[in-house]
Amino acid sequence: MKIDIIAGARPNFMKIAPIIKAIREQQSKGSALEFRLVHTGQHYDKAMSGRFFEEVSIPEPDINLEVGSGTQAEQTGSIMVRYERVLLDQRCDLCLVVGDVTSTMACSIAAKKLNIKVAHVEGGIRSFDITLPEEVNRLVTDVLTDYFFTTSEVANQNLLKAGVSANAIFFVGNTMIDTLLANRARLAPPAFWNDLNLVANNFFVVTLHRPSNVDSVDKLTSLLSEITGGAAGLPVVFPVHPRTRKTLQGASTSWPNLHTVDPMGYLEFNYLVSKAKGVITDSGGVTEEATVLDIPCLTLRNSTERPETVTTGTNELIGTDPKRIRPAMDKVMGGQWKKGAIPEKWDGRAAIRIVEILEKLSVN
Ligand code: UD1
Ligand code: UDP
Repeated sequence: MKIDIIAGARPNFMKIAPIIKAIREQQSKGSALEFRLVHTGQHYDKAMSGRFFEEVSIPEPDINLEVGSGTQAEQTGSIMVRYERVLLDQRCDLCLVVGDVTSTMACSIAAKKLNIKVAHVEGGIRSFDITLPEEVNRLVTDVLTDYFFTTSEVANQNLLKAGVSANAIFFVGNTMIDTLLANRARLAPPAFWNDLNLVANNFFVVTLHRPSNVDSVDKLTSLLSEITGGAAGLPVVFPVHPRTRKTLQGASTSWPNLHTVDPMGYLEFNYLVSKAKGVITDSGGVTEEATVLDIPCLTLRNSTERPETVTTGTNELIGTDPKRIRPAMDKVMGGQWKKGAIPEKWDGRAAIRIVEILEKLSVN
């Protein structure tokens, strides 16, 4: 079976790495699975893309669609047109997409319109907030998906409620966590660890990139004021996503305990998270990693598509009102944050389970 593995944006790379590794292991035992790695080019800076290929040993993409940035429709359209050309030139038997970015949705549409089966890794998760572009991507992708590889029982239930046949749902665990567990021993301090005099359990890490938090300079400024205030003088390390950088350049306030840095490498970023007093974020993936690393996590969003990080893990939904940040940070500072546990099947074996299932599928 010929599989196209699609990746386009930062969180996709951590999700595909263990799947590729597992396929290669099967190939070395004589498996007939073949894959072609398609990078859409949605993220293209070395710090948002190329670096992760080196860090977590992903092979060079076979094809790069080089779509670059654009509006939602521009990006969707470009990816569809360019991926369709690839498929018309050489079809695959299965298009495997991961996560919820625009590349995920656009490639699913292009494949399905050519009657190619679609597999969705991380299928079934829902924020139930249709104002978020990712929710549109999830809904559209899942309507087109033939094989759902899910990360949680909640995702399974969402799919069943939507009328998906139980035979199409495979509860395998979380490939992003496969990558974390596989690399845990390789996590390493960044060069600025000593420069900033960072001490374990005595600093915060922040990541923010959701349009509703970072596209307005006033909103971003008030979030950062509350976060730096809540840290009560402790350093706050803020690797700045390119979307956020544009807004931050227009901010007139500065905060002495805020240390902005470029988007970080995976091994150094997760080292920081693993040593932090707490993480403040609007990322999806970071809430999962903080849960597994057992670090208090404050999510600056009103909804999450990953409820298990709250019900089982260390994550709490704080919302986007800046006034709600300090009381939550006070709890972290006072050592009163809840203890978490590891969600079911987040055991480092999700990709192995996926590939075992792929071996048994008969799609061509
Ligand atoms: C995208 C995903 C989001 C995911 C995030 C992960 C969608 C709709 N959004 O958001 O779900 O959480 O990636 O990081 O798919 N830019 C650069 N260099 C790059 C990439 C982007 O400078 O390598 C800048 C461009 O100005 C671009 C902006 O960042 O317009 C936003 O990039 P885009 O991919 O559209 O969305 P993200 O906010 O990154
Ligand atoms: N990450 C990273 N460097 C950073 C910030 C995040 O390597 O400076 C990693 C993080 O460990 C996780 C992934 O990027 O594996 C999450 O991606 P992001 O927050 O961009 O997207 P989301 O998960 O919100 O879609």
